[in-house]
Amino acid sequence: MEAVLQIENLHVAVEGTPILKGVDLKIKQGETHALMGPNGSGKSTLAYALAGHPKYEITEGRVTIDGTDLLELDANERARLGLFLAFQYPVTIPGVKVADFLRHAVSNTRNPDRKEGEGLMPMREFRQELRGHMQELGMETEFARRYLNEGFSGGEKKRMEILQLAMLQPRFALLDETDSGLDSDAVRVVSEGLKRLSGPEMGVLIITHHERLLEYNIPQFTHVMLAGRIVETGDAALAHELHSQGYSAVRERHPDAAAEEAQQEVAAGT
Ligand SMILES: Nc1ncnc2c1ncn2[C@@H]1O[C@H](COP(=O)(O)OP(=O)(O)O)[C@@H](O)[C@H]1O
Ligand SMILES: [Mg+2]
Repeated sequence: MEAVLQIENLHVAVEGTPILKGVDLKIKQGETHALMGPNGSGKSTLAYALAGHPKYEITEGRVTIDGTDLLELDANERARLGLFLAFQYPVTIPGVKVADFLRHAVSNTRNPDRKEGEGLMPMREFRQELRGHMQELGMETEFARRYLNEGFSGGEKKRMEILQLAMLQPRFALLDETDSGLDSDAVRVVSEGLKRLSGPEMGVLIITHHERLLEYNIPQFTHVMLAGRIVETGDAALAHELHSQGYSAVRERHPDAAAEEAQQEVAAGT
């Protein structure tokens, strides 16, 4: 049976200010969901809250995978349960190569009892698997020998993200591709990589404004966030409508949320 990631009535505050005000979202393994919404509506806040970022305080609600409470778990335990959050992974770690990092990450998620310094996936097996995925994704083998994130272009950062996704094979992947200022190489890498990797084993939530990403990975469900709530859910046609027409129609359909959004902007002085 396919696993379910369920977010129920999630409220999140940042430094005492309520940002998410009751988010409900249910993602099944194998489904692709898009989360859209104007800047400041709370999309990244949802992603950080799921990652367990200490600045994002859960004030109410539940997040579970097949009934197991995610919010009680640390980042490693969340990963073991099958949750992948693209942005959560490190910036630059001096002296660590892409392959080293991936070997540790894979060993951590596959072997829950692993202690630091032991229980690493055998090198031969790891290399073989890594090579296979890199070939499938059309990546140069040289990439695995690069130092992690050192001088990475936008596209290389995304190659790293997709390669992690391939190696970790999570049940649920959350990709926040909104504000990262993706260049066209980066958009292509994510669009094509995700298309290749997604399937019946993976539930995907893509936070994005990039039309191409959603053309490659057609969402069965598109959710629109406004002022910390999901105000509408539709299919791929809704994503298309938002791309071509923006959010004014959504605001008109949800005047209360639009008023809250305007109020927030005044409070934030934007
Ligand atoms: N770390 C933070 N510190 C202060 N305010 C934050 C922080 N993260 C988010 N916010 C506020 O929360 C609201 C939602 O932001 P965000 O989740 O980044 O929106 P989106 O990703 O939809 O553009 C904004 O008003 C933003 O200023
Ligand atoms: Mg964002």
